[in-house]
Amino acid sequence: MNQDDLKKSVAQAAVDYILPKLENDTLLGIGTGSTANFFIDLLGEHKAKFDGAVASSEASAERLRKLGIPVYELNAVDQLAFYIDGADESNAGLQLIKGGGAALTREKIVTACAGEFICIADESKWVEILGAFPLPVEVIPMARSLVARELVKLGGDPVHRAGCITDNGGEILDVHGLQIQDPVGLESAINQIPGVITNGLFALRSADVLLLATDSGVKTLYPAR
Ligand code: 5RP
Repeated sequence: MNQDDLKKSVAQAAVDYILPKLENDTLLGIGTGSTANFFIDLLGEHKAKFDGAVASSEASAERLRKLGIPVYELNAVDQLAFYIDGADESNAGLQLIKGGGAALTREKIVTACAGEFICIADESKWVEILGAFPLPVEVIPMARSLVARELVKLGGDPVHRAGCITDNGGEILDVHGLQIQDPVGLESAINQIPGVITNGLFALRSADVLLLATDSGVKTLYPAR
């Protein structure tokens, strides 16, 4: 199977996972990226079985609306039953690196409102130690150089993602060269740098379940403690 086939298979597994749990008033949180897009496209067939969704990006919101799925502002809702999204890396604790698609801030916000965070990924995203994928950090544009200097002090090699402006008007620094032994500690430390909007470590709030597509089928994984 190529990577897109794996992404489609895990998107289908996520639909199968939530389908028995959907009720008329269920609200879903929906992520961003190519795996999330496959999930959105499959969800269209089941739109009569739940109330609607909150999206983590303008792109996902538009895709949902095109399929006739009602999209709510996060401020208009209380609790989301599930948040379903891809990842750039996951370790065995289901701590993630996200933000390859520059939607990390809204992804983290929507995740925080969800009862269950279901991560969907193909096996290329599975790692022992986070950090081979450059860690995205969203920054206030005027603070970019300050934040970059502080990230160097934390052992990283930040590279400005040229031409990328997020849905929030932020810019992205991709931090190379990290071997993240303490994801919770690094997530917290980066959050303390003035000018940082969010970083792409999802360790303080990791995924609750990972559906991982492999050539021999989709595995359902829970965090190793
Ligand atoms: C977007 C993300 C995506 O979930 C992540 O980049 C994975 O993307 P894809 O499903 O296209 O491989 O965090 O900000």
